[in-house]
Amino acid sequence: MSIPFSAAQLTTLAARFGTPLWVYDAATIRARIAALAAFETVRYAQKACSNLHILQLMRAQGVRVDAVSRGEVLRALAAGYTAGHTAERVRGDAARAAAAEIVFTADVLDHATLACVVAQGVPVNAGSIDMLHQLGRAAPGHPVWLRINPGFGHGHSNKTNTGGEHSKHGIWHADLGAALAAVRAHGLALVGLHMHIGSGVDYAHLAQVCGAMVELVRATHAAGHDVHAISAGGGLSTPYREGDAAVDTQHYHSLWDAARREAEAIVGHALGLEVEPGRYLVAESGVLLCEVRATKHAGSTHFTLVDAGFTELLRPAMYGSYHAMSVLRPDGSTPPGSRTTVVAGPLCESGDVFTQGEGGVLLPRPLPPAQVGDLLVIHDTGAYGASMSSNYNTRPLAAEVLVDGDQARLIRRRQTVEELLALEQNLHESMALPR
Ligand code: LLP
Repeated sequence: MSIPFSAAQLTTLAARFGTPLWVYDAATIRARIAALAAFETVRYAQKACSNLHILQLMRAQGVRVDAVSRGEVLRALAAGYTAGHTAERVRGDAARAAAAEIVFTADVLDHATLACVVAQGVPVNAGSIDMLHQLGRAAPGHPVWLRINPGFGHGHSNKTNTGGEHSKHGIWHADLGAALAAVRAHGLALVGLHMHIGSGVDYAHLAQVCGAMVELVRATHAAGHDVHAISAGGGLSTPYREGDAAVDTQHYHSLWDAARREAEAIVGHALGLEVEPGRYLVAESGVLLCEVRATKHAGSTHFTLVDAGFTELLRPAMYGSYHAMSVLRPDGSTPPGSRTTVVAGPLCESGDVFTQGEGGVLLPRPLPPAQVGDLLVIHDTGAYGASMSSNYNTRPLAAEVLVDGDQARLIRRRQTVEELLALEQNLHESMALPR
């Protein structure tokens, strides 16, 4: 909702680096990390914002990292995270693997990723039994977590609900026995149990989630397997709208801590407790700065057209997500008054609209009346903003800047069209195909 930057800071950054521009605030990220200090392991779901410099900031604060692709594993390594152990040392040592700096979470392992996690000794949080077989054949003894779909889920939209019968994520709870059998058959080292049931979870259901985890630990123990840690997954929500409640991290921790104690009583020893947030750590740290390039009417609808589109911020087009906005004149002032307008981008797509609801319905919004040359600031875009950007319409990726106190640092330069074209130029590979 409110943003951690002054008008003068934003106009200065736009003048220096151009628009569209992502701007993040380091102090906000550090404050969110501090609010989770009760968890001994905070594992950042880097898909939310995977810039190397953001990962370095996380690492400097003692935050570990989750990766969901080979690229994200390589990013974590490039940011200074260590796989921590050679594959040989970590193999068979689940207790040591529970402290791994990088964990790989997914429902599939492609060939290159399989080779990467094995070579680096990165524990795998497996969302399918096929992954366990593939990993077990390639690297017997490799450390694994089991990501379980408890049969229910929640999320801010159907597309971010990751539990229940309609979700492709996780090992179905009734298949826990088969998963454990695969672990045993390959001598995989079971680190822990993990559940992530959605983004923007409904806290009324937390007790149900924690209860499901305790039952999973009980069933795992009864099957003769030990575990060293449990993971609450991510999903801590962000107050995107005025009036949305902020997460009570103490309450959240106390529910999970109670579940952990129950689980410890079952297994008879201490268990690690992880939390794996993405959005919570970064959403409110970031804004997307764009410039108003045209205003117009279509019948009774007023449009404010800016130089960023769903190529930059996909969330409104994808989920009908709401992001608060503000308008700044080049001198930093806010235009007086209000006009109800649809804020849209430059893409050759009718759905390229920032003020829309689920299903694409236009939601004109009262905003200070913007004119060409003003800045439009889209709030709370630090999570799933830059990381979900695309090159559609041959648009280069926007630049990213990290603000720390009174210092601003470019942390990703703007991509160039030449870089995009280069992928398609000077190619000399062709072959004859069989009929
Ligand atoms: N852990 C796992 C296994 C996940 O799949 C995710 C998110 C997270 C943690 C982090 O969730 P968070 O704390 O950020 O809610 N693009 C969507 C969100 C998709 C999330 C996918 N998985 C959005 O913009 O809302």
